[in-house]
Amino acid sequence: MASKLKTAKALAALQKKLAEERDTDKCRISLCNGTACRPYGSNPVEEAFKAEIEKRNLADKIEFKITGCHGFCERGPIAIVEPGNVFYQRIQVSDVPEILDNSIRKKPPIERLLFKQDTDVKSVARQNDIPFYTDQQRIVLGNNTRIDPTSIEDYIAIGGYSALSKALFELQPDAIIQMVKDSGLRGRGGGGFSTGTKWETCRKAHGDIKYVIVNADEGDPGAYANEGLLTGNPHSVLEGLLIGAFAIGSHQGYIYVRNEYPLALKNITLAIEQAENLGLVGKNILGSGFDFSVRVNRGGGAFVCGESTALMASLEGKTGEPRAKYIHTVERGLWDRPSCLNNVETWANIPLIISNGAAWFSKIGASGNSGTKIFSLTGKVNNTGLVEVPMGIKLRDIIFDIGGGIRGGKKFKAVQTGGPSGGCLPEKLLDAPVDFDSLLKAGSMMGSGGMIVMDEENCMVDTARYFLTFLEEESCGKCVPCREGVKRMRQILTDITEGKGEMSDLDLLTELSAHLKDSALCALGSSAPNPVLTTIQYFKDEYEAHIKDKKCPAGICKELIKFSIIDEKCPGCARCVKTCPTQAITFMGKQKPVVLDQSKCIKCRTCYDICKMGAVSIE
Ligand SMILES: Cc1cc2nc3c(=O)[nH]c(=O)nc-3n(C[C@H](O)[C@H](O)[C@H](O)COP(=O)(O)O)c2cc1C
Ligand code: SF4
Ligand code: SF4
Ligand code: SF4
Ligand code: FES
Repeated sequence: MASKLKTAKALAALQKKLAEERDTDKCRISLCNGTACRPYGSNPVEEAFKAEIEKRNLADKIEFKITGCHGFCERGPIAIVEPGNVFYQRIQVSDVPEILDNSIRKKPPIERLLFKQDTDVKSVARQNDIPFYTDQQRIVLGNNTRIDPTSIEDYIAIGGYSALSKALFELQPDAIIQMVKDSGLRGRGGGGFSTGTKWETCRKAHGDIKYVIVNADEGDPGAYANEGLLTGNPHSVLEGLLIGAFAIGSHQGYIYVRNEYPLALKNITLAIEQAENLGLVGKNILGSGFDFSVRVNRGGGAFVCGESTALMASLEGKTGEPRAKYIHTVERGLWDRPSCLNNVETWANIPLIISNGAAWFSKIGASGNSGTKIFSLTGKVNNTGLVEVPMGIKLRDIIFDIGGGIRGGKKFKAVQTGGPSGGCLPEKLLDAPVDFDSLLKAGSMMGSGGMIVMDEENCMVDTARYFLTFLEEESCGKCVPCREGVKRMRQILTDITEGKGEMSDLDLLTELSAHLKDSALCALGSSAPNPVLTTIQYFKDEYEAHIKDKKCPAGICKELIKFSIIDEKCPGCARCVKTCPTQAITFMGKQKPVVLDQSKCIKCRTCYDICKMGAVSIE
């Protein structure tokens, strides 16, 4: 590694050198070894590439790079080959020699490893032509595919830390804050508060000691956008934090990462160490006179610890409970000092704004909602993964163009945005723009970027019950409205899913929701009604079916359904007989329908899913 950089000029010179070294005629293979690709086998694939390159002495012909998440996790392990922008998916160890041969000899891409949305359509060779990527605008996540996240040289080679240098030597703190305000950047952690205004208030707050904090708690089930960024491009978050610290007048930062993110913890810790070694963190950064140090703290996995005041209590070593915010944390936060907490993605946007200007940023996205947003697109959609879209894009475009539509040709039913306390939006809102204000208006919220797609086989009452169960378990219990209210709402929902509900329960749920919204101490409690209220608003017929008819139209709620064999459709293949865990189905001989014993059936759904003849019905 280069020695400590003492001036902005030294950084620029290193940047030039690294960029020139990078710009070779060599073929570059970038393999994703992010967290989601690992279960698909990216580790052995990495080893196979390294061994084969060494065995065949290809190091001078091939630059092999391990990167963080490319976004299209569904198709992992993924590699991009340059030049050519060739996108290989679902790579196995046995594919490695052929990928290397083809890449060196510039042969046509390997057909079987290319992306195809359906079996009957043509494959797509270039990453940039794949519909999953074409409608995205990957200004924040895009660099994940270009750099090894464990190499500060890689980050510097693509222009990393030049925004910090510009901030330190060409801009005054007030000018930086003005730029962030003019960019229109709103916090990506949920509330959508103006980042520039938050920074300004913290800068003006009384006190010599101020703190800047990265919120990488990301406790929403299914969400991993922050993880993807922190593992795939940790220096972008650190650079944003350094710029914010300089603008606010802070010399100490904290990065609060949930302990279940081992790779994110490893990569951000390494990034700090590398930045310290190069003089980009520590005393007198680049000779500017600005000092800054930062430490990484691990969160224990409580969802509530993502809330600003609970996070700060946890950082102080206290129980992670929220407090009332009569005084905002920008005035009195961590150890009662002015503290500026921002989400991982918010911080990662900062170097882009400083490098490209506020006007550039504010033109991306929609009016009042500038920039892009990263979503963890999951659920019943064909293409799951991390997607980065301009604000204002329609839900339909995300789900049907980027996401490739609903799995198995099923019908779309709802999309839930905003984590466990977000709302469930129906088909009629698919053309609604995805931005902070429109989602709130529809009864949902942006949250920190969860997006779960549901189809006709999801029961909306059960979905509301599921999220309320999660919130009940995660409620810290400090205030009565949430501790008792969420529990009571979950009990009512459970009763409805078990056929014990009454129509008056819907009024009770609505009334409890109003109390929670008004009186809960933090947003965990005040937003907990969202999944309940939106499902009542948009899917009332499903509540009525559960309450009045004692039926679950989606066939999910166990107390209200019964599995039966449709004799005319069953040729007696016995697949269900072999897989039923309770031996509830009896084989009656070839070409005869099987018999299902209701008294033994635990309603696990296995027979329904395994039957290829549609001979199992759910009533
Ligand atoms: C229960 C709860 C959990 C939260 N979890 C997170 C989280 O994991 N990450 C996050 O950035 N913000 C989370 N927030 C929002 C934070 O309180 C805070 O608004 C945010 O970190 C501020 O950063 P931003 O201005 O960049 O959005 C949570 C809020 C609540 C009420
Ligand atoms: S609303 Fe819930 S999570 Fe928030 S302080 Fe009250 S009990 Fe705790
Ligand atoms: S639902 Fe499950 S337990 Fe019941 S018959 Fe089918 S496989 Fe067996
Ligand atoms: S899997 Fe379907 S077709 Fe085969 S025996 Fe069971 S019900 Fe009949
Ligand atoms: S982790 Fe590999 S594409 Fe997301």
